[in-house]
Amino acid sequence: MSTAGKAASFLPTNIIVTGGCGFIGSNFVRWVAKEHPECHITVLDKLTYAGNPDNIADLSDEQVELVIGDICDSQLLDMIVPVHDAIVHFAAESHNDNSILDPEPFIQTNVVGTYRLLQAARKFDVRFHHVSTDEVYGDLALDEPRRFKPDDPYKPSSPYSSTKASSDLLVRAWVRTYGVRATISNCSNNYGPYQHVEKFIPRQITNILDGRRPKLYGNGANVRDWIHTEDHSRAVWDILTRGRIGETYLIGANGELDNLHVLKTILRAMVQPEDAFDWVRDRPGHDRRYAIDPSKLERELGWHPIHTDFQEGLSQTIEWYREHEEWWRPAKEATEKKYAAQGQ
Ligand code: NAD
Ligand code: DAU
Repeated sequence: MSTAGKAASFLPTNIIVTGGCGFIGSNFVRWVAKEHPECHITVLDKLTYAGNPDNIADLSDEQVELVIGDICDSQLLDMIVPVHDAIVHFAAESHNDNSILDPEPFIQTNVVGTYRLLQAARKFDVRFHHVSTDEVYGDLALDEPRRFKPDDPYKPSSPYSSTKASSDLLVRAWVRTYGVRATISNCSNNYGPYQHVEKFIPRQITNILDGRRPKLYGNGANVRDWIHTEDHSRAVWDILTRGRIGETYLIGANGELDNLHVLKTILRAMVQPEDAFDWVRDRPGHDRRYAIDPSKLERELGWHPIHTDFQEGLSQTIEWYREHEEWWRPAKEATEKKYAAQGQ
């Protein structure tokens, strides 16, 4: 039976959010809890170093239930999936630098975990949305006018992005072969509250708050396409409820900036001299530039970013880290120790 191309057009009332204690997953859970109080959310999260139950602890127990478990655990999936009408799949090992040091957990969670979830979605005929990344398309030259489009060929560079590309291909195959009702979104770099201090923006903000110097890889010219995580949440909901089955949607907010520019913006906002940072060893295989063409999402689903002023969004993010030291402090020392051991 072919389900491809049909609009999902349904309002889920009982969803599983995998990875709902991580950065983007918890922002999505918080957004759904606020905007769709009729929707019950089961968060399935293994609580790795990147998962923090405090991210959703203030939400009502009646609306949001946390199941601590592994997406690779088929027996657990057989127990919890049948009573739900959709799975929104955020859980992943998500950090490129970690994937270069040790790819194994990336293969397990990103590839095997996605496979197990797809099998459960197939078995219990549950709608599936797969959250992926623009990195599956590889990188662009700095001066290339082109941006990524949904049908571009996959050319991932890092162990992380190759496992995300693998998981996307599994989703496409499960739609075509088994008729699983799935969609895929590939988003650009997110920023906002609750992001782990290993990532670029929170690392530099918390370095400054902690009296350490920010660290810039290579020559600082690499470009990322920044989007506020709340705009990502809205896009995922729109695709889940109105997207066409089997389709890939790219999510981006026209936010291309080079890393040196972003770092200088943080330094200025935190009243530091613009040269108060260290150049450090580059990331092996470092992707030069990502850039998303979001026109399909805008045209088909009428989605547009709300957080279009990056400087304003960044200032709010800085304030959030300033006010939530108890949240980031426990992970800071170990994260910096790991980076220092790699000359970063
Ligand atoms: P994160 O590392 O902050 O959070 C990942 C979450 O998944 C954590 O809560 C962790 O405990 C959980 N998890 C990991 N392995 C698990 C397993 N085996 N079973 C159950 N839970 C597990 O990641 P993030 O930055 O919030 O990214 C979320 C998703 O969005 C990922 O799929 C990532 O590829 C994708 N994405 C991220 C960005 C970005 O800028 N961060 C951009 C585009 C797409
Ligand atoms: O594009 C989407 C991807 O964005 C997601 O799929 C990933 O999960 C997410 O981690 C992010 O990947 P990046 O590798 O782009 O993000 P990161 O925050 O690690 O780095 C952003 C840029 O900043 C990158 O060019 C490397 C650079 N960097 C990073 C760190 C941690 C530095 O210059 N200094 C640093 O200390």
